[in-house]
Amino acid sequence: MPLLEDTIGVEDLILLEPLAEESLLKNLQLRYENKEIYTYIGNVVISVNPYQQLPIYGPEFIAKYRDYTFYELKPHIYALANVAYQSLRDRDRDQCILITGESGSGKTEASKLVMSYVAAVCGKGEQVNSVKEQLLQSNPVLEAFGNAKTIRNNNSSRFGKYMDIEFDFKGSPLGGVITNYLLEKSRVVKQLKGERNFHIFYQLLAGADAQLLKALKLERETSHYAYLNREISRVDGMDDVSNFRDVQNAMTVIGFSEEEIRQVLEVTAMVLKLGNVELADEFQANGTQASGIRDGRGIQEIGEMMSLNSKELERALCSRTMETAKEKVVTALNIIQAQYARDALAKNIYNRLFNWIVYRINESIKVGTGEKKKVMGVLDIYGFEILQDNSFEQFVINYCNEKLQQVFIEITLKEEQEEYKREGIPWTKVDYFDNGIICNLIEHNQRGILAMLDEECLRPGVVSDSTFLAKLNQLFSKHGHYESKVTQNAQRQYDHTMGLSCFRICHYAGKVTYNVSSFIDKNNDLLFRDLSQAMWKAKHPLLKSLFPEGDPKQSSLKRPPTAGAQFKNSVAILMKNLYSKNPNYIRCIKPNEHQQRGQFSSELVATQARYLGLLENVRVRRAGYAHRQVYWPFLERYRMLTRSTWPSWNGEDREGVKKILEELNVASEELAFGKTKIFIRSPKTLFHLEEQRRLRIQQLATLIQKTYRGWRCRTHYQQMRKSQILISAWFRGNMQKQRYGKMRASALLIQAFVRGWKARKNYRKYFRSGAALMLANFIYKSLAQKFLLGLKNNLPSTKVLDNKWPTAPYKVFNVANQELRQLFYQWKCKKFLDKLSPVQVEALKEKLCASELFKDKKASYPQSVPVPFRGDYIGLQGNPKLQKLKGGEEGPILMAESVRKVNRGNGKTSSRILLLTRRHVILTDTKKSQTKTVIGLDNVAGVSVTSLRDGLFSLHMSELSSVGSKGDFLLISDHVIELLTKMYQTVLATLQKQLPVTMTEKFSVRFKQSSVAVKVTQGPAGGGNGKISCKKKGSHNLEVTVQ
Ligand SMILES: Nc1ncnc2c1ncn2[C@@H]1O[C@H](COP(=O)(O)OP(=O)(O)O)[C@@H](O)[C@H]1O
Ligand SMILES: [Mg+2]
Repeated sequence: MPLLEDTIGVEDLILLEPLAEESLLKNLQLRYENKEIYTYIGNVVISVNPYQQLPIYGPEFIAKYRDYTFYELKPHIYALANVAYQSLRDRDRDQCILITGESGSGKTEASKLVMSYVAAVCGKGEQVNSVKEQLLQSNPVLEAFGNAKTIRNNNSSRFGKYMDIEFDFKGSPLGGVITNYLLEKSRVVKQLKGERNFHIFYQLLAGADAQLLKALKLERETSHYAYLNREISRVDGMDDVSNFRDVQNAMTVIGFSEEEIRQVLEVTAMVLKLGNVELADEFQANGTQASGIRDGRGIQEIGEMMSLNSKELERALCSRTMETAKEKVVTALNIIQAQYARDALAKNIYNRLFNWIVYRINESIKVGTGEKKKVMGVLDIYGFEILQDNSFEQFVINYCNEKLQQVFIEITLKEEQEEYKREGIPWTKVDYFDNGIICNLIEHNQRGILAMLDEECLRPGVVSDSTFLAKLNQLFSKHGHYESKVTQNAQRQYDHTMGLSCFRICHYAGKVTYNVSSFIDKNNDLLFRDLSQAMWKAKHPLLKSLFPEGDPKQSSLKRPPTAGAQFKNSVAILMKNLYSKNPNYIRCIKPNEHQQRGQFSSELVATQARYLGLLENVRVRRAGYAHRQVYWPFLERYRMLTRSTWPSWNGEDREGVKKILEELNVASEELAFGKTKIFIRSPKTLFHLEEQRRLRIQQLATLIQKTYRGWRCRTHYQQMRKSQILISAWFRGNMQKQRYGKMRASALLIQAFVRGWKARKNYRKYFRSGAALMLANFIYKSLAQKFLLGLKNNLPSTKVLDNKWPTAPYKVFNVANQELRQLFYQWKCKKFLDKLSPVQVEALKEKLCASELFKDKKASYPQSVPVPFRGDYIGLQGNPKLQKLKGGEEGPILMAESVRKVNRGNGKTSSRILLLTRRHVILTDTKKSQTKTVIGLDNVAGVSVTSLRDGLFSLHMSELSSVGSKGDFLLISDHVIELLTKMYQTVLATLQKQLPVTMTEKFSVRFKQSSVAVKVTQGPAGGGNGKISCKKKGSHNLEVTVQ
């Protein structure tokens, strides 16, 4: 009958149709058989023990349940844990998780799932992780010491546990507090058939290495120990060896020191060994019974381990000191009493050890008092128990369960219905069984069973279990939930199952028959003072600390509270605690009695469903509202969802809530407005509201973020800007400083260099390095001086032609020497010149000109050099006739000599007198002195002479001249050099032109219109006197031979 696709049966029993016990069981069975072990009734989780590992746990699933709301995924303990945790974290409501159910129904496993879920989703970080680890690791330690195999459950918790996990405001765990309730200590000395003692004993014997065993003086065989059930030492699927390792590790993680772990194990070993202390009958001298230790070695070893004299221990075990105000009486114990004392000691040691372990764990995980914390409590208490033979322990356990059921009824059934009434919500009452009456029967302060028990224990006189029963029978003879043989008899009922020493209580979960034997004893829970004092005397630090009342100074005659009273108290505290928190229920159901997977015993489940009140639970749920909240917090939480209530609402809270729900279009049948609270029918509506709120918060968060980020960026920017300006100012300043520094340094450097350079310059002369140069200079100067003085003193002759000059003594002076020689020479010449008369100067100028014209050009030149130019070779002074020849022309006759004129016709020569004036060359016949040829110098175009010794020269006329018609003149002079020189100079002086003088052996001479080629050859004599012979060859050739 799946309601939704993919679901098996219905996941929430509220949706079950038709609602009846049968369909409810069917639904649970269907789901169980399909491995769907969890089912909801609203927010209550029903868990049916699968007795097998299902693949629905672990980090993946945790992550999934963390991200979805309660109804979005399959029912799971994780979903419940998630709701609880989120409500704790986000709504600041302390939570408690109540796990109830029979023994073996899966409570402890469920509590572990809750814890592991919370550990996985709550904060992270080194500190948080270590807290989590400590909280989680407390489990294996407590299980080892407090759990045991029972017929119902291989790992049955034999103590009640309530653990408060404390969180900070962020939801990160800070630590916790564990409260333990009444360890089933009778198990230490005796177990039922098929059950084991506490796990730790087996773990210790199997897991300890040889060395440890030896140190603890233990044997590995479990059968060696009287306190361990000889039939069963191992439990299927439980590895004592590795569990022992885990326990040790866990203790280390929690913070037990190595020393503490060792001491805990030592005390555990002592308990085991105590069981092996065998007692024997003895008789005292007066014949009264006494007892003694049969095996001296065993007690010796225990004494050694306790650091207590074994005699002392023996005395404590086998005798009892009665103290009154006046005297002290020691009485011997008989063997039964002594055995009782031994077992009492063992149970007490173990019980106190267990309490100490819880205390020690709390020390590690406790939170500083100053911190504000949120709390999540997880209650995993021993389940309702109906055994074959039920004793005081079962009575107490069942009482506790009764109380828990009461909490459930109070909160989910009674309180809920009463609230509707209070709030004025229309409501049809759902009937349910209220177990208040049973609770009262047990716990009523004056008239409760526990009160009666205490009364019996404290009453002077003879008290026994039977007097106690008689009292009960008397008191509750009319009580509907109390039965005993006596009450039955009174009502004439016959019940063979009811023993004489029994009474029966009709608990919410069924009738339980309790055997009253040892009720008084167990309630008294007395340990003979001799034993506690002996334990206190022991030097073993842990053992000693477990028995503070053994200290004679501390001892008081006041009785400690009875076990029943203590338990009642702690249950009362627990209840108060639970009522102060928001409850979350996990109701565990045991599907069969055989710990078998897949087996679903409808009968067994029906019983549990009945007493758990599941059906009523569904009915109340169905008719009621899933959620309610006082108007004000509701308004506070959701007012952000509508414009009219956000950001502020000034009206009534109730009106505000109305407004919100109206604006959000929530269907009116979903809502009921109570006097102080708003009621919401289905969780879906609430989840819808939550989802809306989540989205709105995101929006608001974005807005806040936006504003904040803007602000942060702005201030950041401004700060950066300021900083930047500051930095650049500093930077610039710094840069300038550096630059200035550099400049300054450079200036200093330059200054230093200049100063240095100046100073060096001034002092260079003093430098050693300059000395060589100076010496060289000095030497050089002195050499020069010597050279010059030597020169001065030995100047060569001042004759112009004397060209001698001393060579320089050193090569370096060569150039200077040459210069000096030149200077000297020029000076000599100047002196010479200065001495000359103007006439001599003129003569020399002529000579110079001659040299320029003929030097190296004409062979007769060298001979002409030493001969002074006379000018007048014909005695002109004394011959006026000749003087007249010059006619009217001004100026002197520059040259007068006799020359020969070559006849152009035949080559014969005839004498003539040649006069040279400034403007003319005048030729006259020596004889006929009147005839003369006057040649204007301006008509002379050029002169040709030979390079030989001869005196032949030709005056070439310019063609336009008046005498030109006669043609050129071919003349022979003895002073041809002087003549031509003077002629050249004259032409230059008067006509300002250079007369072309050509040195050639072949030239042509014009005669009238024809020309004659003249060829001069050197005669064979060579170097002769220069005589000339001319021969005319043909009309145009004239050969001239020079002798
Ligand atoms: N969710 C579960 N998954 C698998 N096995 C479980 C589960 N819950 C209980 N069990 C089995 O049932 C046994 C008894 O469970 P436990 O929690 O010790 O019962 P309780 O504490 O109610 O007496 C466990 O040892 C385990 O084998
Ligand atoms: Mg348990």
